[in-house]
Amino acid sequence: MSFQTLFTKLEDHTLIITINRPDILNALNKQVINDLDAVMDRVYKFPEIKSVVITGAGLKSFVAGADIKEFESLTKEQAVAVAKRGQAVFSKIEHCPKPVVACVNGFALGGGCELAMSCHFVIASESATFGQPEVNLGIMVGYGGSQRLTQRVGKGRAMELIITGKTINATQAMNYGLANYVVPQSELLDKAFSILRVCHQKSLIAVGNSIKAINAVWDEQVNGYDVEAELFGECFVTDDCKEGIQAFIDKRKPVFKGH
Ligand code: COA
Repeated sequence: MSFQTLFTKLEDHTLIITINRPDILNALNKQVINDLDAVMDRVYKFPEIKSVVITGAGLKSFVAGADIKEFESLTKEQAVAVAKRGQAVFSKIEHCPKPVVACVNGFALGGGCELAMSCHFVIASESATFGQPEVNLGIMVGYGGSQRLTQRVGKGRAMELIITGKTINATQAMNYGLANYVVPQSELLDKAFSILRVCHQKSLIAVGNSIKAINAVWDEQVNGYDVEAELFGECFVTDDCKEGIQAFIDKRKPVFKGH
């Protein structure tokens, strides 16, 4: 797999995706968005990939936002299209049936914070900084930030962060529920792997269905309880379900095959 703006590495069935524009703090230009779209297609498709980590190159920044230079002369229509394109790609990350973890290794600002929030959960380094500083540029969040930040931290905190453009550190992000863990920079990937290895031992169908059911909370087109019941039922036609229940009865560890 090779991409202009990303490094990818498959390790222990986890695809590590590193956004690689460290000179400009891994800002998201069109090419990064296209590359993220293409790499996620492969994540959905390839069974050898069981989970994903998204991080940024270098020690300073996860992603410092959309590439501001690409915003210089956008018309209204072009800006709407840019937002919709980013939202579609981030939605593909959010709805991925395999766990996607953001390892935030520095600035997660603007589109960077929005990218982290589109992942299933976030692990932050002690030096991480989160925020939606778009108002400082006379613009506003556009890659789903008004929705996902509100979902994650509640209306009052989302309002304050988005309308003041202020940033918060890793500890505050954890207190807000934006980050699950704060660890030293050197331990970011190890922490992600320690969690993902646990998920890899489970039925990947049960894991994927659980992700779908949780995401249904925010889908106004469906009733989340109905979605959950359907997905619960789907588990019962899998070999993994038979194996999991039989292993419990036999007092042994289950061996799930993902079908
Ligand atoms: N888009 C384009 N370029 C960016 C960028 C972005 N979002 N964020 C940083 N860069 C570039 C800077 O222009 C600079 O490039 P240069 O070396 O060619 O001048 C380089 O990355 C390093 O950034 P710099 O500002 O010198 O680093 P810093 O440590 O002083 O400040 C930030 C770091 C993150 C606080 C600052 O870069 C910043 O405020 N970035 C914009 C954040 C933002 O508003 N994001 C939302 C965008 S919609």
